[in-house]
Amino acid sequence: MGRMRTNTLTLLLAALLTLSGACKSRHLRTWTPQDHDPDGGAVAAGSQPVADNDPLNAARALFAAQCASCHGNEGRGDGPMAAMFRPADLSAEALQSARSDEDLASAITRGKGRMPAFGAQLRPEAVPLLVALIRSWRH
Ligand code: HEC
Repeated sequence: MGRMRTNTLTLLLAALLTLSGACKSRHLRTWTPQDHDPDGGAVAAGSQPVADNDPLNAARALFAAQCASCHGNEGRGDGPMAAMFRPADLSAEALQSARSDEDLASAITRGKGRMPAFGAQLRPEAVPLLVALIRSWRH
């Protein structure tokens, strides 16, 4: 009995260590487009279907992970936290024509109104990609 408990504990400990290892590697490193597309080299070499070459795919993944909770997957202001934060519809023509790319980038890095600043969490090169993604929703 005592032996079995030890074994169970050892197993639990091993599982916990594996888990914390996984968490560490997920949280300590900054996200890069390569994480979304670990085969980046192959894509660059043209061995993948054209759709995978779309640089906006990395921005889409980033937006889904960091922004969609408020903004919704396509920026329409319908994410699960939208009721609390009331983000504008980023795809709306009125907003798109009133803002320069710099305005959008500045809102992303420095925050705006109830939106927190994301500058510290994003690689600088991710910001123009996010702006390009938002522009692609213009209607
Ligand atoms: C916690 C909720 C929340 C998250 C997460 C969030 N936003 Fe926002 N965002 C807002 C709100 C609210 C506004 C409107 C701020 C205002 O105009 O007062 C806003 C505004 C913006 C604007 C400016 C719109 C304008 O009127 O100029 C951009 C661009 C934007 N967000 C992009 C992003 C991107 C990209 C991310 C992810 C990196 C993100 N947001 C994450 C809540 C959020």
